[in-house]
Amino acid sequence: MSKKLRLGVLASGNGSNLQAIIDRCRECELPAEVVLVLSNKSQAGALTRARKAGIATMVIDHRDHPERAAFDHAMVTALQNAEVDLVVLAGFMRILTPVFLEAFPQRIMNIHPALLPAFPGINAQRKALEYGVKIAGCTVHFVDPGVDSGPIIIQAAVPVLDDDDETTLSRRILEQEHRIYPEAIQLYAEGRLHIEGRHVRISRPQKPALQALSNPPTA
Ligand code: GRF
Repeated sequence: MSKKLRLGVLASGNGSNLQAIIDRCRECELPAEVVLVLSNKSQAGALTRARKAGIATMVIDHRDHPERAAFDHAMVTALQNAEVDLVVLAGFMRILTPVFLEAFPQRIMNIHPALLPAFPGINAQRKALEYGVKIAGCTVHFVDPGVDSGPIIIQAAVPVLDDDDETTLSRRILEQEHRIYPEAIQLYAEGRLHIEGRHVRISRPQKPALQALSNPPTA
């Protein structure tokens, strides 16, 4: 069996996306495993989920590192020590500096609860409701130095209903997040994502090599 992709997940909150990724890895549908969950918040639900799944956790509090670059350097060291191949941002509420981006070039993914490039930054679902859009959604993208501006990997759309509030719309979007984030990681793990400028091309799955031929054919 080929080596599994080692994932380092950064999360500040509840961790439902982390859970979706853990579950898909456990179901053996993902050629990947979460080896470290890192948070800047000691009370993050994501840490509880990771511990329950037997995954190593670490808290690096940004308040202990007044310089952003020093905070990023501490995280990079932890991720490199864990031999992480791909960094997965799952509700991580800090902006990364070049120190971090340069340590993992084209190896950082993020999920955002809007159809980018609409509504980058915080409170995306609220902004979509206030704007009056009829279709909302979520985006998995590679991370670049901008805010939610890197090359797009997968998007999923949901309708905005007349009686939606921020909670109901966020819940509908989150269901799609849990579907497309593991999917994007799977494509990466299979070596099928190719970044060409702003575009992410997705190559076809490789067909398994023909093992044997039988005549007459067998099922
Ligand atoms: C998600 O809506 C994600 O798109 C955004 O933060 C939220 C995290 O939710 N970046 P959870 O912690 O994965 O439940």
